[in-house]
Amino acid sequence: MSTKPQIITTVAELRDQLDQARARGQRIGCVPTMGNLHQGHLDLVTRAAELTDRVVVSIFVNPMQFGPNEDYDAYPRTLSADTEALTGTGCSVVFAPTVREVYPKGVNTEIDIPSLSTILCGQHRPGHFKGVATVVNKLLNIVRPDVAVFGNKDYQQLQVINTMVADLLMPVEIVGHDTTREPSGLAMSSRNAYLSESERHTAALLYQGLTEIASALRTDTGVAASVRAVEARLKGAGFALDYLEIRNADDLTQSSLNATRAVVLVAARLGRARLIDNLVVTLKKSPD
Ligand code: PAJ
Repeated sequence: MSTKPQIITTVAELRDQLDQARARGQRIGCVPTMGNLHQGHLDLVTRAAELTDRVVVSIFVNPMQFGPNEDYDAYPRTLSADTEALTGTGCSVVFAPTVREVYPKGVNTEIDIPSLSTILCGQHRPGHFKGVATVVNKLLNIVRPDVAVFGNKDYQQLQVINTMVADLLMPVEIVGHDTTREPSGLAMSSRNAYLSESERHTAALLYQGLTEIASALRTDTGVAASVRAVEARLKGAGFALDYLEIRNADDLTQSSLNATRAVVLVAARLGRARLIDNLVVTLKKSPD
């Protein structure tokens, strides 16, 4: 399994190769990424390799999902290290297209799910989820995988993708995979590279806060007080909070009434980094 994946940069060549694989009866898996791969990405690849015969990892920093003042230019591009990291994970092909290859005629068709793309991160990053949904749609049309694996780490993104696939009757199974964390609890992210050593310590407070609120939710005791305490602690430690909220885990609505699963979501800026994390909580329903 220690073969290095093949790098393909054009849609035509990738389609040709995958058509041949399908003709041999292989099932195709896909893991879309923006590169600068860490263990969290590699865990998705391992999962995809368990589920399918031929895994394509796309590495594409998608300009459409970055706002004008965001880090599109600064986003780390590390293709050769990424290909190295993928060796032995079960990835057969790295698809690393140019912007022109993915947007041959610019942006004309857009995919948007307004009910999801305007809340939470969408409120702070206008246009972001439109960019994500559009590029994921393109990537799934290019690869035509049987299974595509995404991280629960980007919970709202996964909801957007699941909704798009269901609404547009897309013939692909979407699999959500657990968040891979540092020993401190900090969710792995390419953007953690923006943190200084001491900020990295502070960043662990995010997950601690989520766990605290999750246990208040589970026992249904002092939930509001717990949210306020965590909010105050994060602010005191130097975070600028975009949001810290409890939502219905199934549709991200505010109504947790009748919800059997809730999700605690946080987005906060620390130094140059904007960090997000979440925790899903199964709620005990008292028998009526
Ligand atoms: P990127 O941030 O590179 O993430 C690629 C995939 O890895 C996403 O599905 C994300 O949820 C997952 N991921 C990131 N950190 C993770 C962690 N710590 N544990 C588990 N999974 C993790 O998300 C994107 O790229 C883009 O928006 C993309 C979907 C590729 C569209 O451009």
